[in-house]
Amino acid sequence: MSVTEKTALVFGGSRGIGAGAALRLAEDGFAVALTYVSRPDSAAEVVAQIEAKGGAALAIEADSADAQAISSAVAKAVEAFGTIDVVVVNAGIMRVGTIDVFRIEDLDQMLAVNIRGVFLAIQAAVSHMREGGRIITIGSNTAVRSSHPGTTVYAMTKAAVATMVKGIAIDLAPRRITVNNIQPGPTETDLTAAMIGRLAEAAPLKRVGQPSEIAALVSYLAGDEAGYMTGSSLTIDGGFAL
Ligand SMILES: NC(=O)c1ccc[n+]([C@@H]2O[C@H](COP(=O)([O-])OP(=O)(O)OC[C@H]3O[C@@H](n4cnc5c(N)ncnc54)[C@H](OP(=O)(O)O)[C@@H]3O)[C@@H](O)[C@H]2O)c1
Repeated sequence: MSVTEKTALVFGGSRGIGAGAALRLAEDGFAVALTYVSRPDSAAEVVAQIEAKGGAALAIEADSADAQAISSAVAKAVEAFGTIDVVVVNAGIMRVGTIDVFRIEDLDQMLAVNIRGVFLAIQAAVSHMREGGRIITIGSNTAVRSSHPGTTVYAMTKAAVATMVKGIAIDLAPRRITVNNIQPGPTETDLTAAMIGRLAEAAPLKRVGQPSEIAALVSYLAGDEAGYMTGSSLTIDGGFAL
């Protein structure tokens, strides 16, 4: 299959886990559209890496807190590549703070990107998806167990995503579109840079994950062999949440 016969759209594909997913899906033969909000340089670098290996890629600026930007990103991806077979909704933010000091602006922003943005991304993409498509969200193992103070809002947004995929999986089952949620544990990205040593020490495997390891699970869920799995949340965290 040539690269332009299958298309993936990665929301938040410019860095970290999303960039890992974009690169892996390109290796798997997908043309990849990826969104970014603050780092056009990183997005361009991911596109360049894909093109250097003979793949097709497109970077699109789109804030996942902005409904109009999300639908415009979907339209641009469809205009460039014709269809969408796989959607990875990875864009997410983490603001920490205990309940007594957590700012309402941070609460609203996290709800907007981590929950509303996920819902709207799926809603915008799904009308362009073919039968048998794949939707993959990136949640977090904190939906299962959140043992650190100050992570209430982050964990609750990721628990919402785990619940969201169950309902949407039922909605889209008649079209054989599967909807699954990956729940990574601590993974080495910009998001965790400040706390990576402490996180590694706290994990049973005594290490954190790499974006490529999360991307391998994205690849599986995007592939033909995963067609019987839907509505699931898959935790990949080195035993962190046990
Ligand atoms: N790293 C971990 O340990 C870990 C563990 C569990 C779950 N996760 C989840 O995995 C996902 C990716 O995390 P990461 O560690 O790879 O984070 P990261 O390194 O901070 O990268 C975040 C990515 O999301 C994009 N993004 C952020 N806010 C956005 C917005 N409003 N609109 C569009 N794109 C936006 C960023 O775009 P720009 O580059 O343009 O800023 C970037 O591509 C998140 O949902 C996070 O909650 C991460």
